[in-house]
Amino acid sequence: MAEERASFGSKLGMILATAGGAVGLGNVWRFPYMTGQNGGAAFILIYIGCVLLLGIPCMISEFIIGRHGASNTFRAYSKMSGGKAWKYVGLLGVLTGFLITGYYAVVSGWCLQYIYASVMGELHGDPTAVKTYFDTFATSPVRPIFWTVVILWVTHFVIIHGIRGGIEKASKLLMPTLFVLLLVIVVAACLLPGAEKGISFLLKPDFSKVTHQTFLNALGQSFYSLSIAMGCICTYASYYTRQTNLANSAIQVALVDTFVAILAGLVIFPAAFSVGVNPGSGPSLVFITLPNVFNEAFSGMPVIGWIVSLMFYSLLSLAALTSLISLHEVSTSFFSEELHLSRKTGATIVTVATTIIGAFCSLSLGAVNWLYVGDKTLFDVFDFVTGQIFLPVGGFLTCIFLGWFIPKTVVKDEFTNWGTLRGRFFGVFLFLVRFVCPLAILGIFLHQFNVI
Ligand code: PFF
Repeated sequence: MAEERASFGSKLGMILATAGGAVGLGNVWRFPYMTGQNGGAAFILIYIGCVLLLGIPCMISEFIIGRHGASNTFRAYSKMSGGKAWKYVGLLGVLTGFLITGYYAVVSGWCLQYIYASVMGELHGDPTAVKTYFDTFATSPVRPIFWTVVILWVTHFVIIHGIRGGIEKASKLLMPTLFVLLLVIVVAACLLPGAEKGISFLLKPDFSKVTHQTFLNALGQSFYSLSIAMGCICTYASYYTRQTNLANSAIQVALVDTFVAILAGLVIFPAAFSVGVNPGSGPSLVFITLPNVFNEAFSGMPVIGWIVSLMFYSLLSLAALTSLISLHEVSTSFFSEELHLSRKTGATIVTVATTIIGAFCSLSLGAVNWLYVGDKTLFDVFDFVTGQIFLPVGGFLTCIFLGWFIPKTVVKDEFTNWGTLRGRFFGVFLFLVRFVCPLAILGIFLHQFNVI
């Protein structure tokens, strides 16, 4: 008899685990600087529109394939398509998740270093010293790799304990801790003198800054933040039960994810505006600008500044860890099921392989000078290939597959627990997945290569 597949033990555990996968560096690090660069509240409104019209339907599509297939992402697509070439879209999802795990672990490792640095008081001093601190650390050969290894093995430890005993249990502990930390830091940041300018930037829309680029950025960010097309959503859904209402779950996960992103903005903007710093400073915002902002904003109460900094980097590390767990699970379930290995052996393969990828990505940032492809570091190559090519291609093909090739009855059958509203909701969903989502994804994809 076939072994029964593991499943989440409770609805709360299932939502927290999936939301944990979605809430990550994308919310706390990427969303604020994207908002800063794209005009504040106007960007947030457009972002919410993208989540509702595109992110949620794509998430439901992956939920459907994952739960129906009840196996790793590659096999789920294969089952759904009756073994046809669509299974390679599933394989692409696994590959994307696998490659992202390696370089995401490097950035997650930086967060751990910043917890350490906050405790040791290394993030104080003049602003140039803080910049030099980051540059010296990120380009050094050993330390970043050490932290990459630490976070990957913590992830490994959770993964080998299985779905209920590992992923669900960890999510029930880590996610509430993350919310509490976030709320405390939001209050601390919003009480700073001059914080109101940051709050109004975040909440009062200025549509004069909106261009077509704002829409493309918002769409890209919504996919990134909801972990669309990297196998995570599909893999977790394979552990859902038939009782789970997929559409409700997608809405709940998207709500938590958006809420965390906006709260992260309510930390960064009030703090940055209170000391007159531009929050649109790009990827360096969290590791270079922010420590200086905390130093200056809390200069009258250094102990509070120290605690806020420690809490902020702990929050960032927790967000990264829960996402890393979901990324790792994509490949662990793939290797263990496809190669008929135990979960522990599958997980070990993934941990070792992604540690190697992470180590090379980290070294490429400056410790060695031969890890380049053209003029891009290996780190940037992974980021570009996964984020700008694999994610849109996988998302686009998933919509086409689900919208046009899977029999409607099979899809409709997955809309469990909808009562009389089922038909109407299904109609809207199908329209979005067939037309709106693929066109929008195609739009960003072509635009980034300047085709349109
Ligand atoms: N959705 C998560 C985040 O926002 O950080 C996880 C994630 C997204 C990981 C995109 C990697 C990635 F490229």
